[in-house]
Amino acid sequence: MTSDGALYLQLAQTIANAIRAGTLAAGERVPSVREMARQEGVSLSTVIQAYRSLEDAHLIEARPRSGYFVSARPPGLPQPETSRPPAASMPVDVSSLTTQVMRLATDPRYISFGAACPSAELFSQDRVRRAVSRATQRNRQSLCNYPLGVGEESLRRAIARHGLRMGCQLDARDVVVTNGCIEAITLCLRAVTQPGDIVALESPTYFGFLTILESLHLRALEIPTHPRTGVSLDALQLALDTQPVKAVLIVPTLSNPMGATLSLDDRARLAAMMSRHNVPLIEDVLYNDLAEHDDMRRAVKSFDTTGHVMMCGSFSKTVAPGIRLGWVEAGRWGAKVAALKAATSGAQTAVLELAMADLLTQPGTEASYRQLRATVAVRVDDARGIIAQSFPPGTRVTDPPGGFILWVELPSDVDSFELFRRCLAECIVFAPGTMFSATDRYRHCIRLGVGGRWDNAQREALRRIGEIASEMARVKRPPALGGAVHRPELVD
Ligand SMILES: Cc1ncc(COP(=O)(O)O)c(C=O)c1O
Repeated sequence: MTSDGALYLQLAQTIANAIRAGTLAAGERVPSVREMARQEGVSLSTVIQAYRSLEDAHLIEARPRSGYFVSARPPGLPQPETSRPPAASMPVDVSSLTTQVMRLATDPRYISFGAACPSAELFSQDRVRRAVSRATQRNRQSLCNYPLGVGEESLRRAIARHGLRMGCQLDARDVVVTNGCIEAITLCLRAVTQPGDIVALESPTYFGFLTILESLHLRALEIPTHPRTGVSLDALQLALDTQPVKAVLIVPTLSNPMGATLSLDDRARLAAMMSRHNVPLIEDVLYNDLAEHDDMRRAVKSFDTTGHVMMCGSFSKTVAPGIRLGWVEAGRWGAKVAALKAATSGAQTAVLELAMADLLTQPGTEASYRQLRATVAVRVDDARGIIAQSFPPGTRVTDPPGGFILWVELPSDVDSFELFRRCLAECIVFAPGTMFSATDRYRHCIRLGVGGRWDNAQREALRRIGEIASEMARVKRPPALGGAVHRPELVD
């Protein structure tokens, strides 16, 4: 990806934001290519590319001999409301459904909205390849030396520097390198819980967290969460006051699946709450670099004065998922987490750690984040437009300030698992809502990842999901019996 490429996407994102905010209204003329180039101090070809990508996203349209105009947008859809999970903790049983859905979501025969990851072409693949080959050449023996310890020093230092972007003064010696963020979180949970303990988390939550809880025999206490402002701290406070919560696991920036982001005040309040209750907060900062604004990137950890925040991250969504590197700075549980890492999986592949350190410290990293943010922002707008046009009346959809995940709440009588089955028959995959809770609350919801390939086939497939959901909404299903959790199963 070139820096010029980044420029056209940034321009496209600025215009898309102006359209989204209503600064540029439907039917209004967009400045001509020449005017825009002069105004922004960029080349004509940069503006032409930006306008093309906005046309592809159906945000603007060219009218012969008149120029570009903002397309008529379907009326904006409302966002889902604050979730209302039960006040009791639950055992977790999601892994068999999750495994089956994720297998289909990565099957190349399907058009997939199932995965929450950008596809390979959205990463700076050449930079990554060059860094790996440089690291192999410079460290010729590293593949045949046994790696020991908690990570290469250069990578731990690069991660500590990366922490500064999130307002944190990390000491590189306290950073443990892991196999992705998922291992970092598993180690933290193992360090602070015993089987049967209660862990509080957002509702809905990332299904990967639920599968970890299930494997460690932990109980999930789901906390009401607003799609924009995140977990309710009043509800969390009540849970900490009344239940023996042993850990809190939260994604404060661009949570998965809702894209919720806590305000700075709430981050400070959360850090203080955890110290007061002497309960660890496992903070997942995986998506912080994808947030639209700098202050959304500031971690709860930056407000932690007592070491109660265990901060976990990785480079799976922003640099290179295939390198499988994550990290943790576990505060007062640092030594325990380091010992668990050594006992569980030893060290990571040194040459890949060196390559990642190289990538993080070279110029171009911030530009590659910006480019990724801009590309996916235009897509998210496009997808929201299609949902507004083709999903059944009563649908709600999130409007996340970054990232590539949409959470769609369908009318309550649409069973997302039945929708999932019917879409599978047409080779379309998404993640049904039941995967995101230990309860059966989100049976009428779906998660759509739009970070994969994005062209007319994907747009058509998204429209098709909406059409099938609309047919289903017209045929009402009988009311569910009782309140028992019933996990759907796929049959091969
Ligand atoms: C919130 C969250 N945390 C962790 C992960 C997994 O991260 P990694 O691939 O680095 O293990 C994901 C993947 O989707 C995620 O959404």
